[in-house]
Parts: sequence; structure tokens; C-alpha cells
Amino acid sequence: MTINFILNGEDVISHAEADERLLNILRGSFKLFGTKTGCLSGRCGVCFVILNSKAVPSCLVPAFRVRNSEIITIEGFSQTDEYQDIVTGFSRAGLECCGYCDSGKILAASVLLDRIPRPSRDEILAAFTGIRCRCTEPESLVEGVLAAADIRQRRLYGRGA
Ligand code: FES
Ligand code: FES
Repeated sequence: MTINFILNGEDVISHAEADERLLNILRGSFKLFGTKTGCLSGRCGVCFVILNSKAVPSCLVPAFRVRNSEIITIEGFSQTDEYQDIVTGFSRAGLECCGYCDSGKILAASVLLDRIPRPSRDEILAAFTGIRCRCTEPESLVEGVLAAADIRQRRLYGRGA
């Protein structure tokens, strides 16, 4: 089938079987290797993308669901100010990462902060339940997201935010 969608801000067309994984389309047809391959069953989070403003595991999204949707991968997101807020916040909190699931963590944080600019600890932990990171303690992750939220608020609204 032919699938039209918006990928990182551009109109694109892909030809795929209806049940082909979005993950394979991104890596195979568009060479977007920042979306990683892991468990292929929705349990590790290394393949996360933003699909219509939600962070989802692209290994579980069939091609037919992608039609007319908007997808942002880490390659597109890394061009934004929001990306800088998050990586700076993570770094400030001392998150040590091997990089394997970084894109998933960053995209999940972005969707959370779009929805809840100053999330609680529980809201942060809930937003990361789909990501199994071997490198990051939950409390460090909470600190990193809170730091990112603070940086983002200051960028948007100034020092007193
Ligand atoms: S590869 Fe998609 S969640 Fe693990
Ligand atoms: S950054 Fe290493 S597994 Fe998540």
C-alpha cells in the first residue's frame, strides 16, 4: 500500500505492506537510525517516536495506522529548542547514559512536558513506564525531567518562571 504522512515536518510517501512495522519503514526507507531496534514487543522503548503528539513504540505501529499521521523522530526533534532543554536538563541532573534508549527517553520527556509543563514525580515515572533503561535510576530520571522543565519554563517565560 501507499502511505502518505508527515515525517519530521515534511510530506512523505512510503510503499509498504499494511502490517509492516513503522520502525522498519523509518530505518529501512528513510534511514532514520536514531529509532533503534530492541525487543520488538513494546517493552523496551528504544524505538519510540512521536505519533500525533503521543510517544509510542514504533515497533508496534503497523503501516496502515501511519497514513495521514504526523511523526517526529529523534532526528527531527533534535533540531528544536525543546530538545536542547531536555538534554541540558538530563545532563545537569547527571544522567549517565549509554545512548541505547536516549531517543526514547528524550521523546517521552518532550511529550510529557508538552502536556504537563511542571509534572509531579508520579507523572514523570508514569510517562516512562514503556522504557526499560538499564543506565538510569528512576530518581535521576525524575531529577532530569524536572531540570528540563525548569530550563524550558525559563526559556519560554524568563527568569522568574
Ligand atoms: S523495540 Fe519497540 S519497544 Fe522495544
Ligand atoms: S541509556 Fe543505556 S539503556 Fe537506556
